[in-house]
Amino acid sequence: MCGIVGYVGKRPCRDLLIAGLEKLEYRGYDSAGIALLDDGHIETVRAVGNLANLRAAVGLDADGEGSVAVAAPPAQIGLAHTRWATHGQVTEENAHPHNDCTDTVHIVLNGIVENHSELRAELGAEGHHFSSETDAEIVAHLIERHYDGDFPAAVRAAFAEMRGHYAFVAMHAAHPDMLVAARQECPLVVGLGEGETFVASAIPAFLAHTRRVQYVANGEVITITPDGATFTDAAGAVVEREPEEVDWSEDEAEKGGYETFMLKEIHEQADAVAETITDRLPELDRVDLSELGLDPELPRRLRRIVIVACGTSYHAGLVGRYAIEQWARVPVEMDIASEFRYRNPVIGPEDLVIAITQSGETADTLAAMRLARERGATVMALTNVMGSQATREAHAVLFTRAGLEIGVAATKTFTSQVAAMYLLGLWLAHERGAFSPASVRHVIAELKALPHQIQVTIPAVNDRVREIAERVHRGRFFLYLGRNIGLPVCLEGALKMKEISYIPSDAYAAGEMKHGPIALLDSSTPVVCVATDSPVLDKILSNVAEVRARGADVIAVATEGNERVAEVADETIFVARTDWVLQPIVAILPLQLLAYHVARLLGLNVDQPRNLAKTVTVE
Ligand code: F6R
Repeated sequence: MCGIVGYVGKRPCRDLLIAGLEKLEYRGYDSAGIALLDDGHIETVRAVGNLANLRAAVGLDADGEGSVAVAAPPAQIGLAHTRWATHGQVTEENAHPHNDCTDTVHIVLNGIVENHSELRAELGAEGHHFSSETDAEIVAHLIERHYDGDFPAAVRAAFAEMRGHYAFVAMHAAHPDMLVAARQECPLVVGLGEGETFVASAIPAFLAHTRRVQYVANGEVITITPDGATFTDAAGAVVEREPEEVDWSEDEAEKGGYETFMLKEIHEQADAVAETITDRLPELDRVDLSELGLDPELPRRLRRIVIVACGTSYHAGLVGRYAIEQWARVPVEMDIASEFRYRNPVIGPEDLVIAITQSGETADTLAAMRLARERGATVMALTNVMGSQATREAHAVLFTRAGLEIGVAATKTFTSQVAAMYLLGLWLAHERGAFSPASVRHVIAELKALPHQIQVTIPAVNDRVREIAERVHRGRFFLYLGRNIGLPVCLEGALKMKEISYIPSDAYAAGEMKHGPIALLDSSTPVVCVATDSPVLDKILSNVAEVRARGADVIAVATEGNERVAEVADETIFVARTDWVLQPIVAILPLQLLAYHVARLLGLNVDQPRNLAKTVTVE
């Protein structure tokens, strides 16, 4: 996720801003930039790669050799940004800050402006010129369009024309003591100093200077001066906002107040899914995956889809398989990437191979992609990292937009992958004419509701899951049982449990249980059953009865309101209701939390479990 820092005050701010960006490095980024206003003129410097490159570019390194001169101190107002690419490649042109045609308005933005294509077309027709491929640059031009001397009014007018989820901060050359910022979903917070004011996407950016903060709420536009911030609603009416004192340590601040990165990332899933789906569902009856640039005939002429992946990404693929087969009626095969490459697979030009890899760097998945390409298949990568190797090996790329995941155990990248697979399934169903317009509209409405359902499910289940964890965390073995689309949820839940709590755990198709694993069950075995509403719910309930007959302790995940499950299970955790095919994205939440709380109760380091390392994702 990108990072924003802005400053207006009495101190030279170049070094302050770059130091603020350093505190946001943990969020992940692939380029960075800074804009400083001094003497009526704004200078911007941007650099691809890490902050050392930006430091060199502004001449902050020891000798500054080869660096570009930028307004040296004493600029006392400026903006800085770290970018995690989502729209447009990782290039200096696409790095923020961006400016308008007259070079007087400079902005930094986090998130996505969903209607950027329409706005770009409108502004282009009015004669605006763009220097980047980003959605963010539009904002500088919109402010330029509305500016008549009143900077906050121009920002409000621009804000009114934008759709999406984002936060931005703008600076104008004619207003050397004012930044104007706005928030729609993405976080933004003000830091109040003595005669100086900060604005940032997260508190660590200014924690070294002040602990007095004011949170910006959705739909607000704020004007920041050295004396503080004025909060207004989108119409310009002033809103009172009391400052709060934060008592976090720097470490806690990086984790957004959560005790671990994993817990923070579990809570970021609503945003990650929203970022992944929202602008690909521009209308109520259309999925826009034109970014894939695939032959429009491909969906109809496909013989089959083969999904290759490892670990958690493999489980996301399994969910995708059910959705694609259910909706688009294309046969889908799943393969573990490390097996695919060694079994001389039958694959050819009529196949679409989808490689799922959040890092884009997993060697087995890359090798499987190469093999599929050599055999003439169309290869698509589903990844979270722009510029990763998978993006270079593929004919087409679909990005998840989960931001950097620091916890080794994949959480928000999993739900984002699942969301992206739903988009693909829906797109294929539409393009192949397998779905009626009414079905397309129904699934789109359900998909759009997912971020909210994730948002409400996590706090609704967390305390109950912790209580259950207190009871079962000394278990020697956990069994997970599910059927159909609940099975990959179980596989993923069991993987989370074993990788962070080190408790042996297995996941089985519930109907297979009587063919062997039932021998493992006794009263000491916690059995987690995914029993959300679906056409196979009755079958699952019979399996629950079989398990209970062996005295095992059944923890069921059910769809809210389904008391039939509660009647047969020992413990029932209710998750938000969705279309049954989409249920995995909420059903996994209590299982992530169960593994998390069990591991924490055992005193384990969930962010860095033993023997595991996250594939390096940022060069
Ligand atoms: C589990 C986990 C791993 C990864 C696997 C593939 O929590 O993170 O199982 O899913 O190593 O990694 P990517 O998706 O980067 O190819």
